[in-house]
Amino acid sequence: MAGLKITGWGTALPERVVTNEELAKQVDTNDEWISDRTGISERRIGGTTAGLGADAGRMAMERAGVDPSSIDLLILATTTPDRRVPATASTIQHQLGLDCGAFDLNAACSGFMYGLTAAHGFMRAGMERILIIGAETLSVITDWTDRNTCILFADGAGAVVVDRTEDDGDVLGFSLSSDGSLEDVLYCDHGGFLEMNGREVFRKAVLVMEKAGREALKQAGLEASDIDHVIPHQANIRIIEASMKRLGIPMDKAIHNLHCTGNTSSASIPLAMVNGIDEGRIHERDLVLMVGFGAGMTSAAAVVRWSVEP
Ligand code: UT7
Repeated sequence: MAGLKITGWGTALPERVVTNEELAKQVDTNDEWISDRTGISERRIGGTTAGLGADAGRMAMERAGVDPSSIDLLILATTTPDRRVPATASTIQHQLGLDCGAFDLNAACSGFMYGLTAAHGFMRAGMERILIIGAETLSVITDWTDRNTCILFADGAGAVVVDRTEDDGDVLGFSLSSDGSLEDVLYCDHGGFLEMNGREVFRKAVLVMEKAGREALKQAGLEASDIDHVIPHQANIRIIEASMKRLGIPMDKAIHNLHCTGNTSSASIPLAMVNGIDEGRIHERDLVLMVGFGAGMTSAAAVVRWSVEP
């Protein structure tokens, strides 16, 4: 059966760096607390979702060595579209000179994984090449006087180009879930700011990360011990540590860069993925478990056999 392979990747981060020390001048917090409790030292803010997404998408197409005219579909995972209407994907489609369908997908911080899974299905439906982007400007919906949230969220984008394969492709198994009964633990109303019950999100996140990861592994017919790298949603280093422990995978297999990016929602997994590639950690044939969770509460995981030598 047809599948997909990841052939190119790109990222974009705003220039403006906000350090923990800078936040400590605005709200009652300090670098030590933020670093110890979250693992975040600094984050980037600024730009638009379309601008960041287009920059990441352009880089992914360049690295894949493909022409914009060859893209069949653009999927933009975002929880912070620049406008309510039209979809920010359409703005990016125009900016990149793509001649294809484009739509936004909102599954909060699980969005990129939902996008990858959707692309897997579109390949089986006959498409040849898809650009998947996760892009966010969470700074726009963050209350910068609320120490509960402003220490966590940030802006950025990551993207991949995926090509159709005639064999099963890179995605060996996946899992998607949502539990809307938990919508009040993390939400943002129209015109409002992100509201969060941090402890509850933390508690549930660890459980759903394990469940999603195990389901994807089961579908792939693999054991946790087979996995070479885990690319988790970059929300809190303690959530990553606890999830890795529950999955029975050593922490040194987790790829994380949240210390310098903060939580960029849909952009966080592709940003960490490209970081792992740039650091030379991911190689051809490696088995990678990507697993995310987010508002909703959603979760999503995929086991990917990396088929291209980065
Ligand atoms: O993509 C999903 C997005 N959201 C998440 O992933 C959030 C998940 N949750 C978390 O990451 C953590 O729950 C937080 C980082 C939000 C909070 O960490 P925590 O270890 O759960 O802290 P807490 O809420 O239990 O608060 C512990 C203490 C409290 O003081 P007392 O009552 O012990 O005196 C808080 O008032 O830390 C205090 N506190 C802070 N102190 C300094 C809470 N926020 C801060 C702060 N700076 N920013």
